[in-house]
Amino acid sequence: MAIDKRIDSAKLPQHVAVIMDGNGRWAKQRGRLRTFGHNNGVKAVRDTVECAAEMGIKYLTLYAFSTENWNRPKFEINALMTLLVKTINKETKTLTDNDIKLNAIGNLDSLPSSCLKELNEAIEKTKGNTRMTLTLALSYSSKWEITEAVKAIAKNVKSGDLNVEEIDESTVDKHLCTLNIPDPELLIRTSGEHRISNFLLWQIAYAELFFTDKLWPDFERVDFEEAIIDYQGRERRFGKISEQVSA
Ligand code: IPE
Ligand code: IPE
Ligand code: MG
Repeated sequence: MAIDKRIDSAKLPQHVAVIMDGNGRWAKQRGRLRTFGHNNGVKAVRDTVECAAEMGIKYLTLYAFSTENWNRPKFEINALMTLLVKTINKETKTLTDNDIKLNAIGNLDSLPSSCLKELNEAIEKTKGNTRMTLTLALSYSSKWEITEAVKAIAKNVKSGDLNVEEIDESTVDKHLCTLNIPDPELLIRTSGEHRISNFLLWQIAYAELFFTDKLWPDFERVDFEEAIIDYQGRERRFGKISEQVSA
């Protein structure tokens, strides 16, 4: 499908992160169970992945399940895990056909073994793909990730492999789950909520934030394109003044 002409392919963000939110409310509006919303969110995932890859985005990260989501009713958690296994299984071929590499971040060992198995198989099958890296954040929370990084760094100091004076921002970067991925320049959240919900706190230090009222199952290619157009209209100053940036 053609990409919106207003998008400047020379000014694309390298990495776009998405908080896919609003499945439950979408289902509720239709008098259905929350899980109906999750099932209907799969198409929005497919469209977003396809649109991002066609546009030339190199990294797309989707927040699919947070550490805090383990506190939801058992029934919903089970449905989400089943949907995950089914979707990964079904979509692996499409990922390969589109030259997309699958990656996952989060406390993956906490996932049910069937899920982890499917995930690892898909990661293995798509590891040679180069057009775009699709990262799923699963059982992920930023505070968990940063805590793990602090522990690993402390161990390296204790063992004598690292001097405290040598620790800088890149040391932290290297100990996060996103070590081989550039920071997102753009973060999108659907469903009208204006919060980060423990997602990539370190990595979005300078990301542009884009909020839309659309509920995730209603999110379409045009909405993703709209977010990119909005991003391209922003002035990213990184602490400098406007005149310095435009010079
Ligand atoms: C996002 O939709 C999907 C996950 C968090 C797994 P929600 O399930 O949070 O839907 P709402 O926010 O309750 O509408
Ligand atoms: C954030 O959505 C997590 C994912 C999209 C996976 P939530 O619906 O869990 O966020 P809160 O709890 O409303 O902030
Ligand atoms: Mg939600």
